[in-house]
Amino acid sequence: MAEIVKVAKGLENVVVDKTAIATTSSSGDLLYRGYKAIDLAEKKSFEDTAFLIINGKLPNEAESLRFKQAIRNNMKIDHSVREIMKINKEKDLMRNIRSMISLYPYAEKDQQGLFLKMDSIIPQLSSDTHNAFNGKPYKDGEGDGYSDTFFSMISDGKHKDNARSFQKLMILYMEHEFNASTFALRVAASTLTDPVSAVCSALATLKGPLHGGANSEVLEYLGSIKSKDDAKNYVDEKILKGEKIMGFGHRVYKRRDPRAQFVKGELKKIAPDYDLFQAAEAIEDYLWEKKNLPANVDLYAAILMKFLGIDESFYLPVFAASRIYGWNAHYFEQVNNNKIIRPAAEYVGPENLTL
Ligand code: ACO
Repeated sequence: MAEIVKVAKGLENVVVDKTAIATTSSSGDLLYRGYKAIDLAEKKSFEDTAFLIINGKLPNEAESLRFKQAIRNNMKIDHSVREIMKINKEKDLMRNIRSMISLYPYAEKDQQGLFLKMDSIIPQLSSDTHNAFNGKPYKDGEGDGYSDTFFSMISDGKHKDNARSFQKLMILYMEHEFNASTFALRVAASTLTDPVSAVCSALATLKGPLHGGANSEVLEYLGSIKSKDDAKNYVDEKILKGEKIMGFGHRVYKRRDPRAQFVKGELKKIAPDYDLFQAAEAIEDYLWEKKNLPANVDLYAAILMKFLGIDESFYLPVFAASRIYGWNAHYFEQVNNNKIIRPAAEYVGPENLTL
């Protein structure tokens, strides 16, 4: 028998492999390929950041234009897929995105081509699923790049001037080393399965309220917080019941999620008087005082998207449409230096039973 190593439940603080894609630095900054994610959000486009994550370097001008064009060319979805969605009429956008990606009639044979297609179609799949379910005509997006086009499909059209804030959020959602969905993708990739199957594992994992799904649950309680006393009462009650407050806490960030603070800063600039923003700050202050729990990116992401006139059903697809570029990079990092991921369990059941 090989030596047994017992590790923490939930693999907390356990390093399971190497990655050169992203990390959190000792000063608490999220780095994409060595650059601060918040700097990329401020200064670079979605496409250039995605190129960096996938290829390990920022694109030159020609590469940047080519990559942007390639995404644009792949954003449209097949007529037959649109027909299926009209018949299927699914309400749950993530479920439909997962189903449609697994069914998609891919013309490309090579893995890079498959990824480029999957990387590009989530915006249109989300928008079409929503419109098919609500009996509305399909809407083609308009805009210069990936996030602007997505924004035009899903927002109420009153905040066109704030499209760049949406793009910054999408950049910050793009990658976060071995988070649950990426790890699920890497487990699948480690069996040397195809990219579509690996992405379906990741999409299935980016759904529960503990990872991904929190951003659409935040608004369920924020609307009822009208004062600091409401915030205090809400937090006290949740803690008393031993329940989690969505949009707070993080496996990696125990003091400050840099993405949350960046999006909060963005909101301060564009919507300082927004009531949901003020409610979130009141909860954040009290939860920090009471339990030293910081806000995570999902808290302020939800508020930003609400302010930008985006329906809540799109919040998680926005996360997926961005994180898929990280999954793309992780798929190849895993298969190019592979060992099947197959841990062991400590058996606590009975033994030696007789029949
Ligand atoms: N509300 C109340 N208490 C919390 C919360 C929360 N949101 N998060 C953590 N805690 C408490 C736990 O109850 C625990 O307290 P205890 O030590 O008194 O038992 C302590 O803080 C440590 O929490 P864990 O759950 O052990 O932390 P873990 O690293 O396992 O979980 C997680 C991280 C899943 C994100 C957790 O904080 C959580 O459930 N948050 C709410 C869901 C959420 O917002 N998810 C989005 C994450 S960000 C993203 O996916 C982009």
